[in-house]
Amino acid sequence: MRKDAVVLIVEEDSHHSEAMAEALTKAGVRVVRSDAISHALEVVSQKRVDLIISDLFAGRNPDGIELLDTVRRDFSSIPVILTADSPDLEACKDAIRRGAWDFLVKPVEAKRLVALAERIIPSVAVPKGASLDYVFPGVISRSPVMQSVFRVLRRVSKTDLSILIEGESGTGKELTARAIHENSHRADKQFLPINCAGLSESLLESELFGHVKGAFTGALNDRKGLFQLADKGTLFLDEIGEIPLMLQAKLLRVLEEQSFRRLGGLKDIKLDLRVIAATNKNLREAVREGAFRQDLYFRLNVIHITIPPLRERPEDILPLARFFIELYNRKFKRHIEGISPEAGRLFLAHDWPGNVRELRNAVERAMILEETSQIRPSSLPISVGHAGGPAAQAPAAAPAPELPDDGLSLEDNEKMLLKRALERTGGNQTQAA
Ligand SMILES: Nc1ncnc2c1ncn2[C@@H]1O[C@H](COP(=O)(O)OP(=O)(O)OP(=O)(O)O)[C@@H](O)[C@H]1O
Ligand SMILES: [Mg+2]
Repeated sequence: MRKDAVVLIVEEDSHHSEAMAEALTKAGVRVVRSDAISHALEVVSQKRVDLIISDLFAGRNPDGIELLDTVRRDFSSIPVILTADSPDLEACKDAIRRGAWDFLVKPVEAKRLVALAERIIPSVAVPKGASLDYVFPGVISRSPVMQSVFRVLRRVSKTDLSILIEGESGTGKELTARAIHENSHRADKQFLPINCAGLSESLLESELFGHVKGAFTGALNDRKGLFQLADKGTLFLDEIGEIPLMLQAKLLRVLEEQSFRRLGGLKDIKLDLRVIAATNKNLREAVREGAFRQDLYFRLNVIHITIPPLRERPEDILPLARFFIELYNRKFKRHIEGISPEAGRLFLAHDWPGNVRELRNAVERAMILEETSQIRPSSLPISVGHAGGPAAQAPAAAPAPELPDDGLSLEDNEKMLLKRALERTGGNQTQAA
């Protein structure tokens, strides 16, 4: 379990509270204790909390259900477990319906509690030594739609079936493709992505097939193509909808025969290739319009995965934001604890036309600008509704994102920070540095 994780225990009975705290502390996490719902809500809005275990406080006002509702609304990334003195089936069903992770009857067995916390907490943590993007556990999928996507994914990862991933720009198609590869028996071989949109037909062909010396003017040496380099691994064909028709036929033949010839080559080369393709277009439509070969479509689309846009899975917004906060805390050596409730509301109201990439950029930017320990509205881009902007009232509006697609470079950010520091010190260089 993550050692810097914080668990908030809300329990009136000090005996129970102590027992749970002891078990969790032994397991290595930090515990904060509270004996009243109102106090607990204060803690949640001020500190970073990774898990809440709260008594039902049945018949009290506010009660545990109110805590659950508030957390689901304003801090939806924090999982809540409710506890009760007796097994009340109705209360349990109600709690789960409202989004509780679990419902436990007291006294809670220490082993069970720790196992549960262990299962819940790592799902929002960055694994040690993981690169920023490409690790399966680093893929946040709290929403029910994404959970079902990932259930399919786990099942098909181990196979060699071709997969077609559809989704808007920035929804995580490439991340998903890598996750599939990392979970397959090909994980120790290469995952090779190629963007079919950026290249001319002849360049794309030579990238994929490679060539032998003298195959065309300028082919001074033998060169391996991606088919060969990705042998026994996974080839990721990004923006597959952009691949020219002539090349579609050639690609189909390679996939069917699992063998190919380099440009200018005479020898058939055997392959063991898994292909994952992605597109932000409706490929079926392209087939109907004759822009994409139907046979290739069927060949690639053995398993179909649609990644829904972020606006259709708002449950993922705050968990993703918290995930990126932790990521950038490490990268920028900062200690941002979380998102203020007002900023959280803006995050939830925004419809994220640039999907997860836009969210990531917004968090990155906010973490550089923010001077307090929480991300507040003033450090969010205007598009997300900064400074009392209209986003909170008009969630449907989708103004153009203020940041360029890949965000500001770190250098730009540093310049900006320096400029701000200079402004504060009245332009005195020595003092600012
Ligand atoms: N579920 C997720 N959990 C964590 N990070 C995510 C998730 N989905 C997307 N991201 C991050 O969002 C960014 C965009 O994801 P990715 O490049 O996979 O999107 P894409 O669908 O391939 O976009 P495009 O169509 O523009 O190429 C990446 O930084 C990725 O790490
Ligand atoms: Mg992509």
